[in-house]
Amino acid sequence: MNTLSTKHLLGIESLSPEDIQLIFEVADNFKDVINRPIKKVPTLRDITIANLFFENSTRTKLSFELAEKRLSADVVNFSAASSSVKKGETLIDTVNNILAMKVDMVVMRHPSPGAAVFLSKEVDSVIINAGDGTHEHPTQALLDAYSIREKLGDVKGKKVVIVGDILHSRVALSNIHCLKKLGAEVKVCGPLTLMPKYIESLGVEVETNLKKALEWCDVANMLRIQHERQEIKHFPSLKEYTLQYGLTTELLNSIDKDIVIMHPGPINRGVEISSEIADSKNAIILNQVENGVAIRMAVIYLLAGKI
Ligand code: CP
Repeated sequence: MNTLSTKHLLGIESLSPEDIQLIFEVADNFKDVINRPIKKVPTLRDITIANLFFENSTRTKLSFELAEKRLSADVVNFSAASSSVKKGETLIDTVNNILAMKVDMVVMRHPSPGAAVFLSKEVDSVIINAGDGTHEHPTQALLDAYSIREKLGDVKGKKVVIVGDILHSRVALSNIHCLKKLGAEVKVCGPLTLMPKYIESLGVEVETNLKKALEWCDVANMLRIQHERQEIKHFPSLKEYTLQYGLTTELLNSIDKDIVIMHPGPINRGVEISSEIADSKNAIILNQVENGVAIRMAVIYLLAGKI
């Protein structure tokens, strides 16, 4: 099989394990490309891609733009803050106007869960979800699983704990779907007030004690507290949270094994992870960022075949 089972990338939930493996195999080739002196291929010279960001982003926005440019696509960037969305234009009208300028593919980040699925049904274009509210962040989960595969040889059979604000995290949901499809064992760890009620129906266990979770796992993926999505307080204070769920050298040293440490970014140093751990040899945080470009090149390349 050398094609994806889907026309869009809306979430990991709708991908098959074969789709994910295909993305990884194509990403392996693009990882070679981006590490050459000439980091570009002419593959998508005839394709134009619009990056629509209705929410802030550093990594995902730059990573998609670089991936597109490394594939030689033409790129236009749209930021909601400086657009006519502020004058009351609907999402569908905005996107249809952009598509009228002969754009072939849309990468969209939006604060509303389901925005990418909605758009895929309403406009005639390939849609890639770059994060939709608390729903999914599929390319983040792909690059995370790809980074585990790179570091540990395979994802299957590995024990991964996702720590932190699971309730508000699209990264957690997409990671759970991706890791389970690839045969990993997954636990989530954090205060029960930051766990969605349905979490165990996804086939993951909840562990509220960070030390026990770390003793169990091969990989710990540390998430930040998503203050921007919290309307009420879910724990007494940030200091309290850090004392129970912050990853420190002292805590890691108290465990008699090597654990791979991941973080999707942005990091809040001294809250969910200490600076010393974030910068340690166990952390693969910047490898994740590097792999993000190769993964996004693979996704764009494979979906360009559907235009
Ligand atoms: N990991 C991630 O999505 O980061 P940005 O919000 O900076 O894109």
